[in-house]
Amino acid sequence: MIRMKVLVTASSKHGATAEIAEAIAKEITRGGFDVDLIAPTEVESIDGYDAVVLGSAVYMTQWTENARAFISRFREQLRTVPVWAFSCGLAGVPNGEAQDPRRVGPALLDINAIDHQTFKGRLELTNLNLRERSIARMGAAPEGDYREWDKIRAWANQIVQDLKEHTPEG
Ligand SMILES: Cc1cc2nc3c(=O)[nH]c(=O)nc-3n(C[C@H](O)[C@H](O)[C@H](O)COP(=O)(O)O)c2cc1C
Repeated sequence: MIRMKVLVTASSKHGATAEIAEAIAKEITRGGFDVDLIAPTEVESIDGYDAVVLGSAVYMTQWTENARAFISRFREQLRTVPVWAFSCGLAGVPNGEAQDPRRVGPALLDINAIDHQTFKGRLELTNLNLRERSIARMGAAPEGDYREWDKIRAWANQIVQDLKEHTPEG
């Protein structure tokens, strides 16, 4: 049986999104697929992948520069494979919903993702540079780790189910 290959790649500045990508990669591997977990800047080609999971931290309502650069580099190819997208942010935390995906900017419009999910992230003021810290203060961003691992794993499992439905038999 041919094993499908999945690329999981996520842009993270302070590690929270990278750890979410790791959890997703682990879950998809457990589901029986070959998974490469590679930072967007390190991906040289997406040839040979049957699916791509692309994520980014959200800063100032946008996906990061690295995530947007990844989309520009692979725009055409990304239209030929199934893509799942996720954002990691803190808008609306802890009371409301996390970042409204429609506000994440035009990046996502380019990639016709099967699904886009927003996960709550983590903010640790001590890890930020001065500029980031003052922006976080102005935005009254709540410090803490709000990542919902069950929700993240459930989403990854949904991807596994969807991929299995499309796995060629034999
Ligand atoms: C300077 C700054 C700006 C941010 N802007 C947003 C934002 O516009 N929307 C949002 O949902 N979260 C925002 N956040 C929260 C981050 O998305 C959150 O901390 C995320 O988990 C960071 O992921 P990373 O550790 O992978 O970089 C911001 C955080 C900082 C420090």
